[in-house]
Amino acid sequence: MVLRRKLIAGNWKMNGLYADGMALAQELVGRITAAGPVGFDLLVCPPATLLYPVGQVLAGHPIALGGQDCHAAEKGAHTGDLSAPMLTDLGARYVIVGHSERRYDHGETDGDIAAKVAAAHAAGLVAVVCVGETLAQRESGAALTVVADQIAGSIPAGSTSHNLVVAYEPVWAIGTGRTAQVADVAEMHAHIRTVLAAKVPDPEKVQILYGGSVKPANAASLMAIADVDGALVGGASLVAGDFWAIAESCR
Ligand code: 13P
Repeated sequence: MVLRRKLIAGNWKMNGLYADGMALAQELVGRITAAGPVGFDLLVCPPATLLYPVGQVLAGHPIALGGQDCHAAEKGAHTGDLSAPMLTDLGARYVIVGHSERRYDHGETDGDIAAKVAAAHAAGLVAVVCVGETLAQRESGAALTVVADQIAGSIPAGSTSHNLVVAYEPVWAIGTGRTAQVADVAEMHAHIRTVLAAKVPDPEKVQILYGGSVKPANAASLMAIADVDGALVGGASLVAGDFWAIAESCR
C-alpha cells in the first residue's frame, strides 16, 4: 500500500487586501511553528497581488506558496496574465490550473488547461488540476464520464505524481455549503485514480484532493475517505483557525 501525505491547500481566490493577507499568513506561520512537525503538507494560494509579500512571510516555514492560474506562454504580449516562470520566480511551488471558476467564467477548455499545465511543469511547478461536474451533469448521471473526459483532456504527457495533484471539486458544492456525499466522493476519487493510470506512470502516488464547502465540521469525515489525499479549501481558508482545524482533522 502506498502512503500518500495529505495536502491541505487554501485557495484564497480574489480575496484579501495587503493587511488581510499578511495577518492570515502570519497566523498560519504561528500555528505551524507552535505545532512542530505535522503529518500533512500545507499550501496557500493567494491572489497574485499578495504572492510576494505572503511568500516573504512563509519563507523558511513549512507552508508552500502557489498561484491560482498561469498562462500557457512563458512570456509575451498577454496583458493581465502571469506566466509560470513568474510564479517560480516569487518562490511558488504550486499553481492551481483549470479551476471551475476559470473553466466556466473564462471559457477555459481542457486543451487550454493542458497547455497551462505543461507550462507549469516546464517552470518546475506542481500543477493542481481541478476537475468536477455541474449539478445538471450529476443529476443526469454523467458525473463520472465528465470527470474522466476532463482528466483525459487536461493532463499533458510528462505528468507524474511529482508534478501533478488532482482536485475533485463538484461545481455545485463550491461556495454553496453543500458537500458531496461520502459515498459519491469515494466513488469519484477511486474513478479518478483509475483514469489517471492512462496519464501518469504512478497513479497510486498522485494526491487527489476534494474541494467544495470543506469546513472544520465536515473535514474529518471527508479526509477519512480512501483515495482522498487532502482538501482544496476556498472560503474556510480565509480564516486561519478554520483552515488549521481542517488540516488538523487529518493528523
Ligand atoms: P469553497 O471551499 O468556498 O466551497 O471553495 C472551494 C474551492 O473552489 C476551492 O478551490
